[in-house]
Amino acid sequence: MKKITVIGTGYVGLVSGGGISDFGHNVTCADIVESKIKSLQEGEIPIYEPGLNSLVERNVTAGRLSFTTNIDKAIQDAEVIFIAVGTPQGENGEANISAVESVARSIGKNLNGYKVICTKSTVPIGTGDRVCELIRESMPENGEFDYVSNPEFLREGSAVKDFLWPDRVVIGATSEKAFEIMRDVYSPLYVNEKPMLHTNVATAEMIKYAANAFLALKISYINEVANLCEQVGADVHQVAKAMGQDGRISPKFLHPGPGYGGSCFPKDTHAIAALSKKKGTPMNTIDAAIITNNNQKKRMTEKLLNLVGGDFSNKTIGILGLAFKPNTDDVRESSSIDMIQAILEGGGMVNAFDPIANESMKLFFPNLNYCDSWETACNNTDAVAIMTEWNEFRGLSLGELKSIMKSPTILDTRNILSMEKLKEHGFKYDNVGRIKAL
Ligand code: UGA
Repeated sequence: MKKITVIGTGYVGLVSGGGISDFGHNVTCADIVESKIKSLQEGEIPIYEPGLNSLVERNVTAGRLSFTTNIDKAIQDAEVIFIAVGTPQGENGEANISAVESVARSIGKNLNGYKVICTKSTVPIGTGDRVCELIRESMPENGEFDYVSNPEFLREGSAVKDFLWPDRVVIGATSEKAFEIMRDVYSPLYVNEKPMLHTNVATAEMIKYAANAFLALKISYINEVANLCEQVGADVHQVAKAMGQDGRISPKFLHPGPGYGGSCFPKDTHAIAALSKKKGTPMNTIDAAIITNNNQKKRMTEKLLNLVGGDFSNKTIGILGLAFKPNTDDVRESSSIDMIQAILEGGGMVNAFDPIANESMKLFFPNLNYCDSWETACNNTDAVAIMTEWNEFRGLSLGELKSIMKSPTILDTRNILSMEKLKEHGFKYDNVGRIKAL
């Protein structure tokens, strides 16, 4: 059992802290935001993430997980320190690592013996060197540490599962000793024969960006294929299915939609694109993925505009789904933001409903008509747009929907509704890359 401190209690820090304590270690999660720590100490989880509540509760009860604002002591007490603070997108597209730098200085000041310092936050390639430099500058003369990059591959909405049952664990460490310590931290996974990759620090940092940017690229690719399918009378679902049956391609992340969102793909694609330019080896593929994604979001607004006759003014639109994907209350970079913006700019009104993300969207649009059910959101509307593929929208009764709308018009940006049924009920509809039912 190791004594571990995780600094930063965002979704990466909390899930990692909970997961590592579940592996049997003694974990302290530390954060400078007092209100966050206070609510965690009172048993409240500040983010919506399936399974996180019970993971935290189970380990707090077992005495393996605790929360503190005393970062200095948490550093002094630990053998391994995970840095899991935010790295928001800076003005030039590169990730802003000022929070990571500030944690590095605190670690240096409190380095009272050998420790492994491990970055989990997604940081620009080369940040490892900077963190080491800052620790060395502020540490006592006898300070001793090894640095590790251990990127996370957690998806919001299934982060707990992804942490406890990962596809692989990447450990970027120059020292063998640090690698062995990290292997102990993840020992239950190692015992279960999950692949553990030992790389150098820059490689580990690169793996994270390369993986996220590739997934973003894959989505942009299938979205462009979908758009072309519409022009040539092909069906993108069949195209994606057949493509995915080729083991070299894999069927995952080939689902067309309104463009990717969230806190990771938009930020990480910009970061790797900015870095590649800075290093003089531009990644044209990633630049293209970013442009395509922005265009896809815009394309959805144009599709809706066409459905309502080219004019949003005085139209009431029901928006079903605000989160950037199901099972999260996160609306950052969600395509629903672009959609709502376009409707409001065009003089329309919005009834919005998301099973859990209404509150988050109020930060972006405080004055929409937020509803507590899809039925209320769709009542008396001129059109409805499905923006997130929540299960409850997959099963909505089209008969009931039609009976409450002013005009049965629907844009299904996630392709979750049966076109045969839409046609049967007399809906005017559009979706992404499908052959429309005649
Ligand atoms: C993503 C990665 O999948 C994780 O592996 C990574 O750890 C995480 O970023 C991170 O860097 O922290 P996440 O942003 O939570 O995870 O969400 P995804 O499930 O990857 O979805 C991202 C966006 O792509 C969503 O808007 C989703 O609707 C869209 N998407 C996904 C598609 O449009 N089509 C697909 O086929 C798949």
